[in-house]
Amino acid sequence: MNSLKDEIQKTKTELEHAIKQASNEESLETIRITYLGRNGRITTLMESLKKLSLEEKRLVGPLLNDLKLCAESLWCERGQVLMHEHLCQEAKRQEHFDVTVYRPNTALGSLHIYTHIIRQIEDIFTSMGYARADGPEIETEYYNFDALNIPAIHPARDMYDTIWISDFSNMLLRTHTSPVQVRAMEERGAPLAVFVPGRTYRHEATDATHDFMFSQVEGLFIDKNVSIANLIATSKAFLSALFEVKDLAIRVRPSYFPFVEPGLEIDFSCPFCTTGCSLCKKSGFIELMGAGLVHPHVLRCGGIDPDIYSGFAFGFGLERLAMIKYGINDIRLFHGNKLSFLEQF
Ligand code: DAH
Repeated sequence: MNSLKDEIQKTKTELEHAIKQASNEESLETIRITYLGRNGRITTLMESLKKLSLEEKRLVGPLLNDLKLCAESLWCERGQVLMHEHLCQEAKRQEHFDVTVYRPNTALGSLHIYTHIIRQIEDIFTSMGYARADGPEIETEYYNFDALNIPAIHPARDMYDTIWISDFSNMLLRTHTSPVQVRAMEERGAPLAVFVPGRTYRHEATDATHDFMFSQVEGLFIDKNVSIANLIATSKAFLSALFEVKDLAIRVRPSYFPFVEPGLEIDFSCPFCTTGCSLCKKSGFIELMGAGLVHPHVLRCGGIDPDIYSGFAFGFGLERLAMIKYGINDIRLFHGNKLSFLEQF
């Protein structure tokens, strides 16, 4: 029994010494395993208690208990001290950083060209009192065609190489942003002034000026006594602001779209030359949008009385506009992941 008592004392002294020496978390953990672990020294001492008589147990038991409690609390205290020291060191280390080593993050992202051009368009139209409207890209045949005066047998359907959703006979990916005209009329009523930037889809082969997914911007203005003059003035104001040209001229040519009557194509004077360049094909004018006065059928589908209200609508390709403005020669770059292209904007 006396030898056990000596062993307890010896263990305590050694433990105290070891803990004092522990200088990091790992050495502290080794001490815990050596003394308090499942096969540790204190645990083994506890085991040997079993062999003693009741009398002896009464004497040695409390000593062993003390040793165990003492070991646990010394171990915890030392852990806290080490943690504190570590935090202080870390704070000191951070205090002394070398500013000349700082390198700016050169891999910062940039806004996509879509975001840039849509923001510019948004600024111009909202300054003219237009609100932005949106509609679904998965559209019904009704909104994409019928409500726009293009019934199933109409030859104009051929103009729109449609991607149909195979499981639903009357669902498709919208071929233009014009379906949002009728949705906006239904939702907001007249008078109305909205512009609609959005993605559109066509089942066609891609090349430098065509993509199966592209974007359009639709415009719709409805009020009493709206005429072609309002349409021309609006297009002129919009394009002058976008290209930052004061005397931009608008040219109007007759055209046909089932949802407008009369239908027009609007061209604008080339903002980049006076004598003719490759962009305007030496004509001095660039073709941009389809437009016209909203057909009575479309107004009626939107719940608006064509005897009281009239309106104009227009639509153009967003990529085409951006390509003209920034001199981009391939529409596929918009959806490609070429960083050297994307980082320019
Ligand atoms: N939706 C037509 C297209 O994709 C473009 C268009 C033409 C829109 C005339 C209009 C419009 O609003 O009045 O070809």
